[in-house]
Amino acid sequence: MIVDLFRKEIEFNNIQGYEDIKDIVRRALEAEDSYNLLFVGPPASAKTLFLLGILESRKGVYFDGSNTTNRILDVLEENRSKIICIDELDKMPKQFQEKLLNFMESGQIKVDQMRRQYDFKITGAKVFAACNEITRLSKPLQSRFRCLHMPPYTEEQFLEISAKVLPKLKIAHVIGKAVWDQRGDIRDVISIGRLIRKNDGHEEVEQILATIIKYGTNNCTDGSWPTQ
Ligand SMILES: Nc1ncnc2c1ncn2[C@@H]1O[C@H](COP(=O)(O)OP(=O)(O)OP(=O)(O)O)[C@@H](O)[C@H]1O
Ligand SMILES: [Mg+2]
Repeated sequence: MIVDLFRKEIEFNNIQGYEDIKDIVRRALEAEDSYNLLFVGPPASAKTLFLLGILESRKGVYFDGSNTTNRILDVLEENRSKIICIDELDKMPKQFQEKLLNFMESGQIKVDQMRRQYDFKITGAKVFAACNEITRLSKPLQSRFRCLHMPPYTEEQFLEISAKVLPKLKIAHVIGKAVWDQRGDIRDVISIGRLIRKNDGHEEVEQILATIIKYGTNNCTDGSWPTQ
């Protein structure tokens, strides 16, 4: 019997909540047949954390769809990975989305280019992908995935996650609440947390936030809360 030494119980310890989604991902990983999961959600909703968590427990490959090149084909040809994680799938050029669709239908990668030909097959692969905007994917590609739509966090969840991402700060919830009130996201909580000094309290958090908002809006084309 061949034992996959890399295979570990998948924990997702760094992800707060989403116990139901964690269960689905574990089951998808254990499933005998191929299974394709797509995480869809707003920025900072733990989609990338899920993809990285999968790769901590399984041997696989990770690609950033917004930075796609033929390297994807080279890596797949070389590794023949059966766990394929694609982040920012909606930012992946259409030509690669089409190649992915063909691959998900047949397991076949057949590409004829001027300088390089690819013709290989990976059977039983599982594709885990993430995107913000599902409508940027073609309907056929959407239909290849089981989609998990992650709704924006509630205030209660947001405060719990703030405490999780700033474990050393007693005032994590103060920062969380201040950012929540400004409709910021968890990345803002983290970046403000990094500026906090030992004895800072409520007032300092408000002060830092006010300064960031005051000088940050110019960087935003849509007038929304500035992110890192
Ligand atoms: N449920 C959560 N538990 C723990 N940390 C979280 C959670 N949600 C968000 N975060 C924090 O927010 C940050 C962003 O998370 P992540 O990169 O997974 O977001 P994303 O959904 O991939 O966003 P994007 O659409 O911008 O790529 C991470 O550094 C993580 O620490
Ligand atoms: Mg991401």
